[in-house]
Amino acid sequence: MTSIPLRDDLVGSSPYGAPELRVTARLNVNENPYRPSDEVAQSIAQCVFAAAKDANRYPERDFPALREALADYLAAESGVRLAPEQIWAANGSNEVMLHLMQAFGGPGRVVLSSNPTYSMYPEYARDTFTGYQLVARRADFSIDVEALAIAAARTNASLILIASPNNPTGTATPLADLLDLATRVRGVGPNGSDTLLVVDEAYAEFRRAGVDSALTLLSQAPNIVVTRTMSKAFGMAGLRLGYLAATPEIVDALRVVRLPYHLSAITQAAAIAALSHREELMAQIAHLRQLRDEAAAWLEARGFEVVDSDANFLLFGRFPDSHAVWAQLLDKGVLIREVGPEGFVRVSIGTDDEMDLFYRSLMEVTGGAL
Ligand SMILES: Cc1ncc(COP(=O)(O)O)c(C=O)c1O
Repeated sequence: MTSIPLRDDLVGSSPYGAPELRVTARLNVNENPYRPSDEVAQSIAQCVFAAAKDANRYPERDFPALREALADYLAAESGVRLAPEQIWAANGSNEVMLHLMQAFGGPGRVVLSSNPTYSMYPEYARDTFTGYQLVARRADFSIDVEALAIAAARTNASLILIASPNNPTGTATPLADLLDLATRVRGVGPNGSDTLLVVDEAYAEFRRAGVDSALTLLSQAPNIVVTRTMSKAFGMAGLRLGYLAATPEIVDALRVVRLPYHLSAITQAAAIAALSHREELMAQIAHLRQLRDEAAAWLEARGFEVVDSDANFLLFGRFPDSHAVWAQLLDKGVLIREVGPEGFVRVSIGTDDEMDLFYRSLMEVTGGAL
């Protein structure tokens, strides 16, 4: 046997990722269940064809056309008009987050988050040698602003990551709380800098009526960063395109740590093409929101505990053995996610047919109402 010089802190770690199984109802990674139409796929293929003809050249390093297209999309989606210099993008919001940690975290520095939350956060921290500390959410899964502000001051945190809507709970954080937290942590970061409050809005487009995006806070709080993705509501998880909005100063810092040409010409072309079809790609969002609310009511009516959700998934329980429920649903062709607090599981909202199969299978597995 050979011996490899693996970093001590990686010994025994497994690669992150949910099972990739081709079952009838894949309801485990919060994708949009609707595929793009042939027309959208054709339009993407045409733009990729044009980009491929220039593939002997490196792509544009700072992708100005894509940043402009993303700024236009955000203006249409949230009513907030940003300059392209305030936008950054990478291969999924996972990579955007990694850039943030590379630029603002690092050895001797701390990133805070509020658990339960997205399970990739500790991995970004580990990979950038940044300390990762958690402040528990309250029983209703809302964030504890006071405790987070105290922890940020105590640790001189560089960053606070708050997913809103949160994964796996679906909880949206009120803008007043985000603004309050951002204001309280100004000047408490390393060397008296402002701690950055990163609001991960991967699921923002699914928010309920009356819930605003944290993009509306950017003009008041220069230490807020809002991350977004085309993987969820936009229905383009296969594209790998995530982005953020922040001050030009923050964006410039990310340009220092990114690998040169990190965003391929093919990705840039495909993303611009997809953005030009935003209405069609997002046509099903209202329906998915409705299916989510129906699913929550359906589960509650049968005695399950369901967490209020502004996202395209529901966290529900409580099961004495949630693993058994997950495994028995899988036997029936329904793949959900084992994640979150003990006794809970998470289901992504699928098509009408997928939800029907989920309902039927869950009844069979749990023997009817709890
Ligand atoms: C809260 C949250 N942030 C970010 C992501 C990553 O998305 P992307 O596909 O853009 O890397 C996910 C994906 O599940 C998520 O749940």
